[in-house]
Amino acid sequence: MIDLNFAGELLQRMRAESDELFSSDRAGSRVLRRAAENRKFMNGLLQFIDVYPVLSDDASLVDHARQYFGDSDPSAGLDPSDPVALRRVMEDLVSRFVVGRNLDELISAIGGMADSGFSYTLDLLGEACLSETEAEEYLEGQLRAISRIHASGHPVHITLKPTSIYSQTSPLNYSRSVEILSERMARVVDAAKALGGFVHIDMEQRQFKNITIEAFKALVKRFPGHSDLGIAIQSYLRDSEADVLSLIDFARRNDSRFTVRLVKGAYYEWERLFAEQNGWPSPVWGTKAETDIAYETNLRHLLSNAEHIFTAAATHNVRSAAMVKGLAKHFGLEPGQYEFQMLSGMAGTQARALLQMGETVRLYAPFGPLVPGMAYLVRRLVENTTAEGAIRTQYLEEGALDRILADPRTLIPAEYSGDDALDKKTTGKPQYFGNHPPADFSIAEVRAAFAAALETTTDLFDAQGSPLPSARPCLLYTSDAADDLLCVD
Ligand code: 2OP
Repeated sequence: MIDLNFAGELLQRMRAESDELFSSDRAGSRVLRRAAENRKFMNGLLQFIDVYPVLSDDASLVDHARQYFGDSDPSAGLDPSDPVALRRVMEDLVSRFVVGRNLDELISAIGGMADSGFSYTLDLLGEACLSETEAEEYLEGQLRAISRIHASGHPVHITLKPTSIYSQTSPLNYSRSVEILSERMARVVDAAKALGGFVHIDMEQRQFKNITIEAFKALVKRFPGHSDLGIAIQSYLRDSEADVLSLIDFARRNDSRFTVRLVKGAYYEWERLFAEQNGWPSPVWGTKAETDIAYETNLRHLLSNAEHIFTAAATHNVRSAAMVKGLAKHFGLEPGQYEFQMLSGMAGTQARALLQMGETVRLYAPFGPLVPGMAYLVRRLVENTTAEGAIRTQYLEEGALDRILADPRTLIPAEYSGDDALDKKTTGKPQYFGNHPPADFSIAEVRAAFAAALETTTDLFDAQGSPLPSARPCLLYTSDAADDLLCVD
């Protein structure tokens, strides 16, 4: 179903200009190229970025840069002994992916995107907030951005990250998380809706996925007949197809229509490591090809249900884009009845080529100060430098275009058994000791089993809730053994 003519034209147009991400001579481009080629440099860069926001004086900046990058390496575009150059590199990296630091810069960036023909969605940088004060400030920031954008005459299109609006979002606090998130999301929807705006709910780590989907469904029910709502689905999750089908079914049963932004997923390394750390099976596919297959399967489901779902296909991959086009044509959809979404600062040549070819392209536009944007920056650096990512392959590797267009079904290594990262890591190694994995409360069955176990064991606890006596233990226990152990005077 891939539209090969579309792929050919897209590639031709992309190659007609050089992509600013890697090919310019700006210091940040050289740093990105070097990071893509050298794992050790990349690790140093990520650790340096982590500490960068607190390095306020030149001496500590240089001292840390030397620790993370060793001796000066001018070919990497980064001289650890030059504080001005170091700051320039960091500014350059941030400004590639973040469209502005404040509302004025944001409005001018939205204007620039509109002049070039792009739609946008705003991401006010922030996630994993730690207090309710922070959550409230974030919500107020969203409301300020909404009214300011409207006042500037641009359409309002907001993307919200759930963990930025409720500090206690957690599978351990499941039903309350769903309830509070949907209430707070509704506050933003109320404001946006009054101005004809759109609110999209983003997807973050897998542990918040079911909470986010439930909060989103509650939101849809709260605003019947309102279709300017959307949710993201990450195809790298093994259960993404089940989630796509359940959302389609939900839309049908509620006679509603909303947007699904189909992505591949931005937290891949984190998901694998978090699962491995906890002794859980990996929730993400073990190979990139499997994610690409799932993406194509999900696309088909979404585009074939256009009556209920508006598909926002988020991809920087030429093959996936050509699959969107092929399937859209097959289901009789014109540009505008579906859209492409891309991240601002990534694969700019591809975004412009899609526009030139008459497609609708929405750019994901993050704005805000540096510290809340650090995690976003790190995710962009990782996905732009990872060996398997389409971005790097499309722009940095000569002769890789056949690989880009190859059917992902042919790219799974023959020896691959479908094991997750954990299995692969432990295969063949003696296992001396393994901790029992902690319960994963993001799974409904685990929560239900825990609640049932509590029901049957309540009599083990003091139902009156009287405090435990605090006393010298040998005065509480009268057995000889306890006396021997505890009351040795
Ligand atoms: C992220 O924040 C784009 O939502 C994606 O990494």
